[in-house]
Amino acid sequence: MFRKKDLLGLKDMSAEEIISVLDHAAGMKEAFVGGKPLSLLSGKCVTTLFYENSTRTKNSFETAARFLGARTMSVTVATSSVQKGESLIDTGRTLDALRTDAIVIRHSMAGAPALLAANVKASVINAGDGMNEHPTQSLLDLFTMRDKFGTFKGLRVVLVGDVKHSRVARSNIWALSRLGAETVVVAPCTLIPKGIEELGCEVSYNIEDALIGANVVMGLRIQRERQKAGLFPSLSEYNSEFGITAERLYGICENAIVMHPGPVNRGVELSGDVADCENSVINEQVTNGVAVRMAVMDILVGGR
Ligand code: CP
Repeated sequence: MFRKKDLLGLKDMSAEEIISVLDHAAGMKEAFVGGKPLSLLSGKCVTTLFYENSTRTKNSFETAARFLGARTMSVTVATSSVQKGESLIDTGRTLDALRTDAIVIRHSMAGAPALLAANVKASVINAGDGMNEHPTQSLLDLFTMRDKFGTFKGLRVVLVGDVKHSRVARSNIWALSRLGAETVVVAPCTLIPKGIEELGCEVSYNIEDALIGANVVMGLRIQRERQKAGLFPSLSEYNSEFGITAERLYGICENAIVMHPGPVNRGVELSGDVADCENSVINEQVTNGVAVRMAVMDILVGGR
């Protein structure tokens, strides 16, 4: 088990620590899908502090915290004193004074969760910081892969899409390389950051080549909100060159599972029929996310 106060990223987590979280999450999933709430965080308080939009992550953390018996608070940044100029550190210290035990933070600036963690007593959990990391998304992705294949050794995992802006890609590349999987990123060259291979992946600019032998095909959202300049001619051209289509999936790697962290841009990263096909585990990923976040909060807040 990892014994730190905070979960800021997977870059510094060992394979053993990652596996221990996944093992713990397996028990949590049984309780969650079996509809048997637990009281492991009874008397504790978990606060979500999201400076960027979210559907899955925020609701997943709140569902997980309540399922473990915690009280929850939610700071809606758009209607909070952040709008009056309150700093991140002062907001965090205010939440400390309200006796929260954990702050789950999403922020557009890489490093914001680390800054908060250094200045508050509460455990800080990174729910996505800029283009840096999204550790619980990666843990739920890993949980889903292990559930399907039983191991990471020898798995070929192909990440297709906006690698440049993807914190999910970074967390997954760190973790998968440590766990013995082969990771390939594929995108137009404008969406692949220089030096990404050093994190532990191969780079391809041709989706047909990259999909050969794939066990997992993961679409990454085209993050138009983070793109300052046009990085490809149009969404339809991106889809025609790099989209995960039924023809590519069934023609090249028919047994691969299809993943996506969400939200999906149908017809861009994935065609609608691929998002809904029997190989797609996108909705399972969401359920697994609650189990993984229950495990993380039990370890950090419940003191397991
Ligand atoms: N996967 C993910 O982070 O989704 P949300 O932006 O909806 O939280």
